[in-house]
Amino acid sequence: MSTASKPKNIIKAPKVSNQKLFINGKWVNSISGKTFATLNPATGQEICQVAEADSADVDLAVKAARKAFESGPWKKMSAAERGRRINKLADLMEKNLPELAALESLDNGKPLRDSLNADLPLSIKAYRYYAGWCDKTHGKTIPVEGEYFCYTKHEPVGVVGQIIPWNFPLLMTAWKWAPALATGCTIVLKPAEQTPLTALRMAELAQEADIPDGVINVVPGFGPTAGAAITSHMDIDKVAFTGEGSTGQLVMQAAAKSNLKRVSLELGGKSPNVVFADADLDAAVEGAYFGLFFNQGQCCCAGSRLFVEENIHDAFVEKLVARAKKQRVGDPFDMATTQGPQISQEQCDRIMGYIDVGVSEGANLLSGGKRVGSKGYFIQPTIFSGVKDNMRIAKEEIFGPVMNILKFKDVDEVVQRGNKTFYGLAAAIWTKDITKAHRLANSLRAGTVWVNCYDVFDAAAPFGGFKMSGIGRELGEYALSLYTEVKTVYINLG
Ligand code: NAI
Ligand code: MG
Repeated sequence: MSTASKPKNIIKAPKVSNQKLFINGKWVNSISGKTFATLNPATGQEICQVAEADSADVDLAVKAARKAFESGPWKKMSAAERGRRINKLADLMEKNLPELAALESLDNGKPLRDSLNADLPLSIKAYRYYAGWCDKTHGKTIPVEGEYFCYTKHEPVGVVGQIIPWNFPLLMTAWKWAPALATGCTIVLKPAEQTPLTALRMAELAQEADIPDGVINVVPGFGPTAGAAITSHMDIDKVAFTGEGSTGQLVMQAAAKSNLKRVSLELGGKSPNVVFADADLDAAVEGAYFGLFFNQGQCCCAGSRLFVEENIHDAFVEKLVARAKKQRVGDPFDMATTQGPQISQEQCDRIMGYIDVGVSEGANLLSGGKRVGSKGYFIQPTIFSGVKDNMRIAKEEIFGPVMNILKFKDVDEVVQRGNKTFYGLAAAIWTKDITKAHRLANSLRAGTVWVNCYDVFDAAAPFGGFKMSGIGRELGEYALSLYTEVKTVYINLG
């Protein structure tokens, strides 16, 4: 690992002033007048103050969303026109791409090269993909018995509350907004308290794209206050949440105790990444590395249990450690940087705590293990070998640049151990043997399985978790069902 040297900035961090709540097409202060700071994770310094929503503000946002859903121009607009406006939003993102990428890197700390090459293109593609669905989501005619004409309609579920995390702020906004807009819903979004800035900028662009007032409302604030006000609100029809498992359980409880609002959850994982001895080893090293260290290890689908077949284990580990030395940790705005800071002091402490746990549990610390520098939240890319299934670092989501390597002997054993987790978000397999690849793809209980690749995403293909990794599928045609109710109509022909 080397610390990125002289900054070679091609894009500068944008200037951001005070930010307000976006409710009913207007920028407003919170009713309490309270604000909170959003910090630059690379320095730990305040970027700006943001208005802090609480239940009274959420209530105003829900009222605006309800009105827009029931009587506004959105309700009357054709599906095709909705699609044109979602495409216009995507156009505006393209037009403002460097600025959005820089704002994302400023607020989140991710390397600018990742914001430019991953977050922005994937987000834009999600809007375009769902823009295309607007006038293509439709019901059926059903040949029922008797003299009736029976058909179904796919109607928008209504006002949706959306609560997103800080690891991919723009992309999570896109995964939530695009299918909700495509199906004709209206939205109250709460971005993560660590990263509210790009969602607010997107609200501004949505207005420029002629998305009518009240269709999108953005209420930055904290989980137990603004977040809980959304999950327990009696006039929100559905809540979509991405974040920690235990928070997902609170979301579901609140939905159950209030109005049984529909719930979709995308929670974390402890995804097995399995490398067989017959794999293309260099490709597998790169895939294993990227699959864990991408986005500072802050990915729900990180390949955080790396299973390596016994007879190549030592050679493979040596290559991985050499790969870690090439990581450039530093200023997110330096285009040579490949690893930025963690999101916050809290996450940094949590990850350092897990590194201590790994050492005290007896895993071998091969590389890294320390913080980098004294300002901001940088951590060295860290690799443990000799990790055992029952160690906490092999069971719990670390959400940081900490790789755990486990040794295995054969196919049956790795399937059984790979599935020995409450999670089921993703899995990957590296092998040239097509039978082994299919066998594992078939038997690993995970929402996505990658064979000889990792972290491949496309707006057209669904993503979500088995078991405690979540409920429902985002992306692709499948996500439309998260935002629609099916209505059955019988017409008496007699
Ligand atoms: P979190 O689940 O607490 O936060 C995610 C979102 O939920 C934020 O917008 C937050 O304000 C909101 N929230 C928190 N408490 C809430 C409540 N009671 N009701 C409604 N909304 C609430 O995650 P946090 O604390 O930021 O990170 C903790 C751990 O969660 C991470 O270390 C990681 O393991 C996991 N995580 C997983 C993510 C994923 O993509 N699956 C994303 C972020 C975190
Ligand atoms: Mg939390």
